[in-house]
Amino acid sequence: MDKKRVAIIGVTGSVGQEFVLSLENHPWFQVTQIAASERSAGKKYVDAIRDPSGIIAWDVGGEIPEYIKEMEVKTVDGLDVSQLDLVFSAVESEAAKDIESKMAADVPVVSTSSAYRYEEDVPILIPGINDEQIELLEIQKKNRNWKGWIAPLPNCTTTGLAITLKPLLEKYGVKKVMMTSMQAISGGGKSGVSAMGITDNIIPYIPKEEGKVKLETRKILGKLENGKIKDADIRISCTCTRVPVIDGHTESVFVETTKEIDPQKAKEMYNQYNKDISVAGLPSAPEKYYAFHEDPTRPQPRMERSVGDGMTTTIGRVEKEELFDNGLKYILFSHNKKMGSAKGAVLLAEMLHKKGKI
Ligand SMILES: NC(=O)c1ccc[n+]([C@@H]2O[C@H](COP(=O)([O-])OP(=O)(O)OC[C@H]3O[C@@H](n4cnc5c(N)ncnc54)[C@H](OP(=O)(O)O)[C@@H]3O)[C@@H](O)[C@H]2O)c1
Repeated sequence: MDKKRVAIIGVTGSVGQEFVLSLENHPWFQVTQIAASERSAGKKYVDAIRDPSGIIAWDVGGEIPEYIKEMEVKTVDGLDVSQLDLVFSAVESEAAKDIESKMAADVPVVSTSSAYRYEEDVPILIPGINDEQIELLEIQKKNRNWKGWIAPLPNCTTTGLAITLKPLLEKYGVKKVMMTSMQAISGGGKSGVSAMGITDNIIPYIPKEEGKVKLETRKILGKLENGKIKDADIRISCTCTRVPVIDGHTESVFVETTKEIDPQKAKEMYNQYNKDISVAGLPSAPEKYYAFHEDPTRPQPRMERSVGDGMTTTIGRVEKEELFDNGLKYILFSHNKKMGSAKGAVLLAEMLHKKGKI
């Protein structure tokens, strides 16, 4: 099989670097073009990621893959779209608005930005969770007279919440959710949080984050009916905070369910979902989509972030919640740059390719 030719836009950023890793030696996709802003354009990749003091700022650990070191970073206008089968976009949402629609006119775009997430003909996709919503991509393509489409992932804080709520919603019904996040520094991008601001500190506010989590969770868990997504009828309250952790978001969740549930039933439910998950066996899928811990000291970011190469969502501290007639409380861990963005986007592209959409 010929590999699909892909471009990464925003390749020098926090998520862009994860894309570089996730696509190294990929069996189906080959990175043939890369782009970032004017600041990086014209430079070899290895030079484009130097910080202002000249230090190579490769933030994802290990060595920079050989395939990318000498590749020239282009501007978006410098990309040859006629030679591409797919674009991965990892730019901030303001810039993404123009860039992604320009690309989608010719070629499919899988995006980590929020630019198109809230538009009626755009699904927010988590591979394995709401695959049926990919049918909206065809409607989007037709509506906009594009050859491609834009398929965004959710915000990285929404990802773990929606993944853990999906089985609960299907089996027990979900009425209300309260969530407090403890989000990693890398979630803010390469220039998002200053070292002085976050060291020995917790920041109790992340602009726009809480609104995104509420809107996105309801849309992802909604149903595609007559060409439109009908949001899930769940009331959500959340508080999003930034904590001094490098990678991986932790969330404390309280859920009111319609039917009675206890921790043992939850364990059986997540184990069953591990067996049934649609993306099992795809190149970037973890062996276990869910890890369920009875040890009350889990999840911990330093222990969980490498499980399933960051693609496993960990659930622990599961207890019956006495505040509700029926309900649970739990703590989840989800890797913001792996399942929550770059590698999750690659898994989404694998699912879309398998279903003949790419
Ligand atoms: N960080 C996370 O954990 C995470 C998780 C989920 C989703 N996201 C989303 O993913 C996107 C990227 O986030 P990030 O954290 O990787 O941000 P980042 O570290 O700030 O990187 C931004 C990237 O976009 C490039 N860029 C900026 N303006 C551009 C333009 N006009 N044209 C082309 N490229 C441009 C930058 O290039 P230069 O280096 O040349 O400036 C850089 O490569 C954002 O929309 C973010 O909300 C992030």
